[in-house]
Amino acid sequence: MAIVVQPFERNFGADIVGVPPDLQVSDDDFRRIEAAWAAHGILRFRGLDMSPEQHVAFSRRFGPLHIMTPLKFNLAGHPEIFVVSNASKDDPSRPIAQEQGAGDAGLKRAGEGFHTDGEDKRIPNAGSFLYAKSVPPERGDTLFADMYAAYEALPDKIKQAMAGRRARYSRIDLHHVYYPLMDPLTEEQKRERPDVCHPLARRHPVTGRTSLYIGRWACDVEGLPKDEGQALVRYLQEFAQQPRFLFRQQWQAGDAILWDNRCTQHCATGFDDTRYVRTMHRTTLEGDEPRMAETSAALAL
Ligand code: OGA
Ligand code: MN
Repeated sequence: MAIVVQPFERNFGADIVGVPPDLQVSDDDFRRIEAAWAAHGILRFRGLDMSPEQHVAFSRRFGPLHIMTPLKFNLAGHPEIFVVSNASKDDPSRPIAQEQGAGDAGLKRAGEGFHTDGEDKRIPNAGSFLYAKSVPPERGDTLFADMYAAYEALPDKIKQAMAGRRARYSRIDLHHVYYPLMDPLTEEQKRERPDVCHPLARRHPVTGRTSLYIGRWACDVEGLPKDEGQALVRYLQEFAQQPRFLFRQQWQAGDAILWDNRCTQHCATGFDDTRYVRTMHRTTLEGDEPRMAETSAALAL
């Protein structure tokens, strides 16, 4: 059966239909999927049944994979698979899947607050491929924002204020806000994750299109007074979160979404994690250093 790219009806993004559940596709089909990814920013696959090896093999066709640290949140025997899960060794009502072996249960409460993966590193991750293994009967959705559309819709005076500027991302300043359940960063971890700056208007290395690039670790803007930079970051985040730019994924086990961190943001939305297990497997693509988009002549006038 030929694969079909079905754009979502009301949002950006597309379903890929007609792929085998293990996602082992021909080179021709792979090229069509790759082109659809560039065109749509997020791709959804449903009804999958992939082993960790198959998940890794499919992901690797897009480029080199990134291994998340600390290693303890990765799947036992498969360091390329980062586990987002609230399964617990201590609570029999939230058992750990057997395939996780003796490894840790995964990172709880990951991804709350709109962000792009790796935005707090000098070289953020190009994309991520999240596969739902167990999902709660209600909630636990993930929201995605179309950052090309957000950039295009910004008022010209904001585009001007952003032009040529970079935001400062700081895990050191904000770790306690997004990971209240984790230990504070050690001095060594702080040295490993120094603040970084990325352009606010980013040129996509494949499509050449400009997107708004911002996320939860952004604090303020290089070269602007702190309060002005903070206000611009807050404005841009709120702007990008308007319903007109969002797609809401209501997960079923066997769904997977491949997103492009260079032109979309995403956000976990929470669920009753004392009652239900939610376990997701994620592979992560290496990326490149974000490039500043050129300001259009019309804006410079
Ligand atoms: C991630 C992430 C959100 C979710 O895996 O990068 O942000 O809803 N996950 O699990
Ligand atoms: Mn994420």
